Order: sequence, then structure tokens, then C-alpha cells
Amino acid sequence: MSNTAVLGIDIGGSGIKGAPVDLVKGDFASERLRIPTPTPSTPEAVAEVVAQIAEHFAAEIGDAPIGVTIPAVVAHGITRSAANIDKSWIDSPTEQIFTERLGRPIHAVNDADAAGMAEVRYGAARDNDGLVMLTTLGTGIGTALIYRGLLVPNTELGHIEIDGRDAETDAAASVKDRLGLKYSEYIPRLQRYYETLERLFSPDLFVVGGGISKDAAKFLPKLKLKADIVPAELRNKAGIIGAAWLAADAAGRTDLLT
Ligand code: BGC
Repeated sequence: MSNTAVLGIDIGGSGIKGAPVDLVKGDFASERLRIPTPTPSTPEAVAEVVAQIAEHFAAEIGDAPIGVTIPAVVAHGITRSAANIDKSWIDSPTEQIFTERLGRPIHAVNDADAAGMAEVRYGAARDNDGLVMLTTLGTGIGTALIYRGLLVPNTELGHIEIDGRDAETDAAASVKDRLGLKYSEYIPRLQRYYETLERLFSPDLFVVGGGISKDAAKFLPKLKLKADIVPAELRNKAGIIGAAWLAADAAGRTDLLT
């Protein structure tokens, strides 16, 4: 048993939010801190804010690893895409930039992968030991594919091509807002998206996150799928909790996980 909290930080378009996470409970160990995302939100500018958050929680986090989510492909510490963020993240050695700025190891992960792991460990998918697919409906669509607790990172199924179009440009929650779609107009887009994912991956469970999931009752029951489809439970805590979990796991700190 360990009481050391692991800092998770979620980098979003408008805010950068961090909190120490108790990985035994799967919840924040203290209240989160939010700092507005700088403009332009380059990796260097964001590293400054990440450093401020780490400084704020220094007493609680000791030398435990720090996990950071990025809304992009993150492979071996390098960010490889930037669908909805500043283009300077493409091919940026992000983990190295953050680690050098903070003077301690930082583990960077895709935002949906973090949310997916949090839901599998502590949230809506905690009792499922099959194939779980988390999707986040927000500015874009993020996805996480987790089989029996093991994450296949960077699936990027928000960009799957459907009817010749990038899926997130039709089915992200931001599209509903931008076009002022009613649920009756938005649901067919979600149906087309989820039935395509189901045809290709046959998951046992879909978990739907993103801000819109608070209104899940208005659209999830209308989707016709073989698999169960349920709202995420950890809401806007999922990214922070999942980033902390993945950072501890990557560092081999099993002492922090049990
Ligand atoms: C990005 C993903 C990200 C998702 C949610 C997509 O546009 O390509 O990397 O997970 O948005 O933020």
C-alpha cells in the first residue's frame, strides 16, 4: 500500500488541468488546479504551465512519475499529429521538452487512451474483461481500444473514413454545436459512426465520453448496436486519472497501483 499520489495533467484546448491522483482509489487526492491554455499553445508554452502545476503540487507528489495527456498521436514520447491543436506539435519531442523543463521524467499519452484506461480500471468498463472501445465526442473524436485491460495505443478511429469523409468532421460533438443539429439530426450520424466501428472491431462494450456524455440519455438509447453502449463515468476526471495510471505503469511503479 502506498499513499503517494501521482500527478495527472490533462491538456485541453481552453484549459490545462492537473490533480494528484490516488491510484488505489482511482480518484483525485486533492482538488484539481486549472490554468488557461496559453496562446499559441506550442509544446514549449504548454511545458511552462505543466511546470507551474507540478510546482503547485510538489509537496504531495514527491518524486512519483507525472502523466500528461495530449490530443494527438503520442508514440515513444514524440507527438505525431495535430488535428485540433497547434501544428507545432507534429513531430515534436514532447516528452523530452517537458522532462527538460521540469527536471524530472514526464510520460506523455494520447488523451483518449488515458480516458479509456481510467474507465477500464475505475469507471464504466471496470467489470468488462473483453474488448472495450472508448470514444470521446468533443472537438474531435478520440478513441481507445483496450483488450482485457491492455491498451492498444493511438488507434485514432475518430479519423476513420466513412462515406469518403473523416468521421470526426461529421460526428464529433462540436459538429452538432456548429451546425445547430437537434438530437434527431445528430443521432443518424452517430449511428453510422458506431455501426462502422462495430462492423470492423466487434467490441464487447462501447464507452462514450466527452462533455456531451452528460446528456447520454438523449441519444445512447436510440443507437442500434449489438454491443452495449454506456456513458463514461469519470467524466472530466478521466484524462487526469488515466494519465496518472499510465505514467505509474510505464515507470514500473506497481507499488503505486495497489
Ligand atoms: C485527435 C486524437 C484525439 C482526439 C480527441 C482527434 O482529432 O486526432 O489524437 O485523441 O481528437 O481529442
